[in-house]
Amino acid sequence: MLDPLLTAEIGAARLDIVVADITTLDVDAIVNAAKTSLLGGGGVDGAIHRAAGPDLLKECQTLGGCPTGSAKMTKGYRLKAKHVIHAVGPVWQGGGQGEADTLSTCYSIAIDLAGSAGLRSIAFPAISTGVYRFPAGLAADIAVATVAAEIARYPRGITQVVFCCFSKESAEHHMNAFAELGLA
Ligand code: APR
Repeated sequence: MLDPLLTAEIGAARLDIVVADITTLDVDAIVNAAKTSLLGGGGVDGAIHRAAGPDLLKECQTLGGCPTGSAKMTKGYRLKAKHVIHAVGPVWQGGGQGEADTLSTCYSIAIDLAGSAGLRSIAFPAISTGVYRFPAGLAADIAVATVAAEIARYPRGITQVVFCCFSKESAEHHMNAFAELGLA
């Protein structure tokens, strides 16, 4: 995989920041930024469905959707990743509707799903920071703080978490979050 821009260790787990197309990552699970229907969309959702092939949608159609703030796992099909964890992030509405907590639960539930399935590596896009307009800096702070706390509290055997950013700017937000948490 690409050389990370920054790496931090929490216990036996490594947290990496990369700039990449998440569909190219060879990890046990990549996380999708999905909509509640789980029936595909644009952005990273579209990219993952295109790369995984039509069987991904077929499996998603059996799941009955997913509420905002939660996540469901499928197989990865044609992706290098064995699984896709479809997380539904909050739409930013100014910050007064509990968006921060909702975004945080997307990350913690995804870690839970991966850990419970015995997966060792998971890659996250910057959930909600595209179409859902969540401020990228705040989202990165929430993402890194949630993942660091979850992994520290109960590593669940996860040994690698990749924050897969799609721009240098997004990576810088995540690197700032690492620094603010004293991770790097
Ligand atoms: N790899 C990694 N990150 C990506 C990729 C990719 N191939 N494509 C886009 N991104 C990044 C975006 O740059 C952004 O930082 O993923 C982040 C999330 O952006 P969106 O994909 O727009 O997702 P989100 O803001 O959570 O909105 C979700 O958009 O596509 C629809 O069906 C989806 O309704 C849902 C909504």
